[in-house]
Amino acid sequence: MRDRLPGGFRKSTIAERRRMVASTNPNVDEVAFGRDEEMIELADVMVESSIGYLALPIGIATGFVIDGEPFDVPLATEEPSVIAAATYATRIISRGGGFKTTAGETVTTGQIYVEHAAPNADRRIAAVEEKLRLTAAPLLATMEKRGGGWRGLRVDRLPQSGLLRLEVDIDTRDAMGANLVNSVVESLRADVEAISEGRIVMAILSNAGARRVWRAGFAVPASLLARAGTPGPEVARRIVLANDIATEDPARAVTHNKGIMNGMTALALATGNDARALEAAAHAYASRDGSYRALTRYRLEERSESIGRLRGELEMPVPLGTVGGATGIHPTARASLALLGNPGAAALAGIAVCVGLAQNLAALTALVTEGIQRGHMGLHAERVAWVAGARGEERRLVAAVMRARGEYGADGAKRALAEVRSQGCGRTGTLADAPHDGDDAGEPL
Ligand code: MEV
Repeated sequence: MRDRLPGGFRKSTIAERRRMVASTNPNVDEVAFGRDEEMIELADVMVESSIGYLALPIGIATGFVIDGEPFDVPLATEEPSVIAAATYATRIISRGGGFKTTAGETVTTGQIYVEHAAPNADRRIAAVEEKLRLTAAPLLATMEKRGGGWRGLRVDRLPQSGLLRLEVDIDTRDAMGANLVNSVVESLRADVEAISEGRIVMAILSNAGARRVWRAGFAVPASLLARAGTPGPEVARRIVLANDIATEDPARAVTHNKGIMNGMTALALATGNDARALEAAAHAYASRDGSYRALTRYRLEERSESIGRLRGELEMPVPLGTVGGATGIHPTARASLALLGNPGAAALAGIAVCVGLAQNLAALTALVTEGIQRGHMGLHAERVAWVAGARGEERRLVAAVMRARGEYGADGAKRALAEVRSQGCGRTGTLADAPHDGDDAGEPL
């Protein structure tokens, strides 16, 4: 029976909290929550009641060409096929000339809701925008030096409740801006109550990211999409059809968009960004016309059988930052940003939509040809081999045997491990002994 954590847990030091967790849970070793002293201290700085940190795998999807510039993109994810899939699709897209992006604005909107506002409060507030801007000015001074700051104010009424809604746009440059925008709208409370003669219900940013809408697109010769015996033009036709299905059927659109977010959320995590904000904005945008739909569009330009081209596009809000929050203090986030050449928020958003689009192309390519399980299970094999006890080079040897036999269960892994060991290749074997899966182009999924 597990004991409850003692009172005073929250106020203890992180070292004490780790000991309390281990002593009240006999099956839990505190090192499972990380053993790097610096990271443990950082965890304590970042969140309350912390006991350590989660080490999530981070890998690199290679070979992106975005607006003519090459990028290798760090992604943090627990899902086996995400990085391989992004690399696979990116390689095809790069052969077609790479991605082109269209930028949104680095603007975050703050909202203030007011009840019992005077009938003419809308007009009165709109008329004193300059006064409100001056009230917020001390908070925005640094941002203005960076070229950001106040970008405007709107006042309207919610159609059903009649509540007054005030929206303030702030250009937060390279920051995602949640803290700054929340501080700005909170600083306006007293002024807004006085002018509207109403009462503030709440003041908070909107995570819709309405002005942070980015677009990525590509065009590739359909012939490049050939997969598993299906000719490229037919794969391209089926990709368009698959996208049409996700545009028509919300239940399929959820899975389709989840696949897009597999890559984008992984980039958000690798760079220390607020992945929930990105997800929330994405799914809200997917239902902006009242029905939940695919975030992507595809079309086939059929010039002739041989030179037909598939065009793909992803458009969505991308509220990411490269300064502030965890991006600035987490060493892995900082290193990930360094790998990307220390982009600003706009450049990072452009990379993110390309990752999402690559992820989607990889998923659809697999789904309309051989399905996702073959590639997925192939990648999964090493994980099962590890659980069965394979370590070091054994992992790859065992996984190769499992793949060759199409046996992906725990028993198959144990049998393969016993054989690998009996043949003496095991831990000391060389990778050259293992059948290789091909080059580093990844798998569609
Ligand atoms: C799996 O994580 C993602 C997919 O389900 C996406 C999709 O179905 O489009 C393969």
